[in-house]
Amino acid sequence: MSADRMQKIMENVPGKYYVDESCIGCSICVEIAPDNLRSNLHEGYEYVFKQPATELEEKRCIEAMEICPVNAIGDDGIG
Ligand code: F3S
Repeated sequence: MSADRMQKIMENVPGKYYVDESCIGCSICVEIAPDNLRSNLHEGYEYVFKQPATELEEKRCIEAMEICPVNAIGDDGIG
């Protein structure tokens, strides 16, 4: 199953990458892409606070998306 852009977490900034509500807050993605993903420790989920601006950031976002255990990261975000 892949991420659902209709279920985006509100804090995601607009753009291609996003985290959806199936995130279980494991934080692996934040370790992989710390320049783009951030934890909301209070709510127990992660979100995209900055869309990737460099090749390296993009590469890390793709890696985070692939490694997320519940496929909560999507790359088809619109707006
Ligand atoms: Fe959530 Fe997946 Fe990251 S479960 S914390 S979006 S690796």
